[in-house]
Amino acid sequence: MATNPAPKTFRVKSFGCQMNVYDGERMAELLGAEGMTAAAEGDDADLVVLNTCHIREKATEKVYSDIGRLRRDDGTSPLIAVAGCVAQAEGEEIMARAPSVKVVVGPQSYHRLPEMVADAASGKRSTETDMPAEAKFAALPKRRKSGPTAFLTVQEGCDKFCTYCVVPYTRGAEISRPFVDLVEEAKHLIAGGAREITLLGQNVNAWTGEDDRGRPVGLEGLARALAAEPDLARIRYTTSHPNDMTDALIAAHGEVDKLMPFLHLPVQAGSDRILKAMNRSHTVDSYLQLLERFRVARPDIALSGDFIVGFPGETEAEFEETLKVVDAVGYAQAFSFKYSPRPGTPAATMADHVPASVMDERLQRLQAALNRDQWAFNKASVGKICEVLVERKGKHPGQWLGKSPWLQSVHFFGDAHIGALVRVELVEAGPNSLSGRLV
Ligand code: 5AD
Ligand code: SF4
Repeated sequence: MATNPAPKTFRVKSFGCQMNVYDGERMAELLGAEGMTAAAEGDDADLVVLNTCHIREKATEKVYSDIGRLRRDDGTSPLIAVAGCVAQAEGEEIMARAPSVKVVVGPQSYHRLPEMVADAASGKRSTETDMPAEAKFAALPKRRKSGPTAFLTVQEGCDKFCTYCVVPYTRGAEISRPFVDLVEEAKHLIAGGAREITLLGQNVNAWTGEDDRGRPVGLEGLARALAAEPDLARIRYTTSHPNDMTDALIAAHGEVDKLMPFLHLPVQAGSDRILKAMNRSHTVDSYLQLLERFRVARPDIALSGDFIVGFPGETEAEFEETLKVVDAVGYAQAFSFKYSPRPGTPAATMADHVPASVMDERLQRLQAALNRDQWAFNKASVGKICEVLVERKGKHPGQWLGKSPWLQSVHFFGDAHIGALVRVELVEAGPNSLSGRLV
């Protein structure tokens, strides 16, 4: 396979979670700082970074088919770098199997991407999947991203070892980025036009640090500090783990206006036996009690969650317990997945794998319930007047699209601009969005 020349243009393709989106933006900023420019939509790029996700099925197959699709008509390929969680988990094998891949770089080492790309241009392929805690962030250039909404990774990694999940292996141990670094990065994002910042972490509510006066704080302290930034209007965070939830964070929801009334708190399953087999270390009851405390602190809080159906050994009766949790909570939105055995995780070698057809059927029933509740939540919002943060233009001339405080998509017509916070009356509800009228 021929050596690629030093790239002038690049494209970063991110798959999977919001943290990958964030990492993809930082990689683009890194490459930009090296003088490369982002290839225009549809144009051939000299360098393509596949920023991959390993959380569920067919992740690796997808990477190989993406690599195949990058092959040009003349048989050459752009310089391909595989980043993200598949790179971390299967880097060596990708290098061996795909000669057009010149760089493999894991999620904790992508600050080294430019030098690795330079090496590739002089004929040297390289793999970097070390996990040096925090080295990456210190080595990244200042944020250049602009736009009304931004992600900010505050915490990475996971020490929980849920038995189905690859994250502890691909992202490493839990680390919290320092408070001062985060406030500084937030200020850059705000200067670039961010009105809303979503704090990201695999266990975001496990974030801890010391504030600018050296006092120990949790995520609530960070949220309070960011709320003091006058041009920032909204703060969100995702994803939380029930066991890391603190009284202080719950209380902040009742006190910090800029902290949006929305909580993504995965339960995964509705049976205590399955939760135990998943090593979730919470019960259905402790989860429901937690939600109740959020509702007391912030009565209008919208709830979101993640679910897995067909975990090994899950019986029909146990699945029905998941449906009961859904009924009890009334989620405003949720994500649900069929269990997918991940190589190297404890659940992959458990007995009694649930047949695919049973998983399909359970997922359909679960999603029908979740969709019903999402639509019900939207319908119950009709008549409310709320602020909408305008994110982009709609499909129709004069139409705008934005988000309600409860993370619903809202479209409306009238005088607005991207980044504006406008008051809108919600007038009609669909399953996935609402239409509104400027007030
Ligand atoms: N199979 C199916 N879903 C999974 N998730 C994580 N690992 C798996 C797996 N092996 C889901 C969980 C998690 C979300 C990000 O992805 O619901 O909360
Ligand atoms: Fe995975 Fe569980 Fe950690 Fe979430 S808490 S990242 S599901 S191991």
